[in-house]
Amino acid sequence: MTKPISLIQFLIEEKRAGHINAQLSLLIEVVARACKRISVATGKGALGGVLGNAGSDNVQGEAQKKLDVISNEILLEANAWGGHLAACASEEMEDPQPIPDAYPKGNHLLLFDPLDGSSNIDVNVSVGTIFSVLRCPDGVTEPKVEDFLQPGTEQVAAGYVVYGPSTLLVLTFGHGVHEFTLDREHGSFVLTRRGITIPPETGEFAVNMSNQRHWEAPMQRYIGELLAGAAGPRGRDFNMRWVASMVADVHRIITRGGVFIYPLDAKITAKGGTGKLRLMYEANPMAFIVEQAGGAATTGRERIMDIQPSALHQRVPVFLGSRNEIEVATRYHLEAD
Ligand code: AHG
Repeated sequence: MTKPISLIQFLIEEKRAGHINAQLSLLIEVVARACKRISVATGKGALGGVLGNAGSDNVQGEAQKKLDVISNEILLEANAWGGHLAACASEEMEDPQPIPDAYPKGNHLLLFDPLDGSSNIDVNVSVGTIFSVLRCPDGVTEPKVEDFLQPGTEQVAAGYVVYGPSTLLVLTFGHGVHEFTLDREHGSFVLTRRGITIPPETGEFAVNMSNQRHWEAPMQRYIGELLAGAAGPRGRDFNMRWVASMVADVHRIITRGGVFIYPLDAKITAKGGTGKLRLMYEANPMAFIVEQAGGAATTGRERIMDIQPSALHQRVPVFLGSRNEIEVATRYHLEAD
């Protein structure tokens, strides 16, 4: 195991290495501290009175869980006063949240999905927080939506926290991917894996198979090959896993390889949709992490991080994970176009 060092010590080392500045270091500390509070809230379950619906809808028209609302508030409140942010944007809110006038402003933009996979909360299955950090454009003091609409290649940091049997933070600054485990007794995140890599080959895929009949032909072709197993073109059997919590599914891929796919399908396009997952809060940060670990992340047609966003809550198809498989799936889509 990697020599145990705390997140704080790791951040100091990253600063000394010139990978991050003091504001970004503080930002990550603050996000990690907020996620510890979310971890405590999710861990209380029914005893904390936090399960069930909040009785409101979010900007996506989805019913909010109480923990969606609590997690969003925890992240907003923690990030308001540190002087490291110019503004925040959340999957749960229609518009960006400015930093209150009472506090100094920094030069970063923070985007987050405060509690991803929240349909899993009530059944006690892993959920997570996903975040992405951009620079605020020079000279902008009151960031607007257009200031957030930067491609994923502009991210200066991305990470997620899984609230599972243990609470884990996975982080990248564009210099590899590192995992920290929350030491619940001491209340600090401890580095448990440094320089994580995703194997290029895999025998595992994650997809919601109940949507199969709605998929496009290249997606049918790709998954058909995996399902054919040893008798198919790969000559080996594949296993399937689907937690329905992107954070948990991506964490499995970061740990032992695999592919995660949420494709475009006829059910989505019939409603005028462009995908299920959100570019700015889910696809871009996960793509940054997966690429930094040596994997690939596309929409089936183009690299996710190259997309020029057109809206804060834009949705995209997502194919990410072990490089060789993502290349095949992407090639099939491009050949079919
Ligand atoms: P939500 O946070 O609204 O529960 O969405 C979860 C996302 C993602 O985490 C997961 O991979 C996917 O939606 C699951 O979608 P299905 O329910 O269609 O399987």
